[in-house]
Amino acid sequence: MSGIFVSFEGIDGAGKSTHIERLAQAFRECGRTVTLTREPGGTPLAEQLRHMVLNEAMDPMTEALLVFAARRDHIQRVILPALQRGDVILCDRFTDASFAYQGAGRGFNWDILSVLENWVQGMPTAFGGMSGQSVLQPDITLWFDLAPAIAAQRLAGARVPDKFESQPVAFFESVASGYARRMDADPTRFVRLNADQKPDAVWQDLFDAVRVKGLLG
Ligand code: TYD
Repeated sequence: MSGIFVSFEGIDGAGKSTHIERLAQAFRECGRTVTLTREPGGTPLAEQLRHMVLNEAMDPMTEALLVFAARRDHIQRVILPALQRGDVILCDRFTDASFAYQGAGRGFNWDILSVLENWVQGMPTAFGGMSGQSVLQPDITLWFDLAPAIAAQRLAGARVPDKFESQPVAFFESVASGYARRMDADPTRFVRLNADQKPDAVWQDLFDAVRVKGLLG
């Protein structure tokens, strides 16, 4: 059985977290072993980097380098081994978040992010690459798309906001445009979910999308 890599994306407050466990359960019911993980994070080192990125003030380049350093450790220690075992990996955020938050949100150079992506996610030929290097990407990226003003209402008072969650709505408008740009560049990988619906309706769309891709059931 070959591994399946699924990432979940969206602005803070879009509601992705509630669906990750549900999709894990659906895969388990099909007899799959599921690895649940997140970025930044997923390894002890990457979790330390996450803590810094979410709590310390820093310039956008430092932030980009730290999230990609965390990603490198996560890929090496968790994602590749899980894919090699044939697991399903459900990852709460991956590289698209770096383009959306550090690129579109904080204004860091998109081309340099692409260089970092190719560098950090570059895989040897032995890992499925057709020629030379291939760049590891999720098999499917589920983008929970929600108007930033609605996401802000959902987040208000829910918990103590971290560095990103406390940003104004305009920041999340930029982040959302970053996700749209990433989707335009890779439309077959992305599924844009209307997150402005009741959770069961979002779930139905998500489940259908994963099935249509031939990844489930
Ligand atoms: P999030 O995934 O929303 O987790 P939680 O539900 O625990 O708040 O938080 C992660 C934050 O990190 C989110 O605000 C987006 C940000 N982030 C980046 O800025 N760059 C990245 O590359 C990644 C993966 C996340």
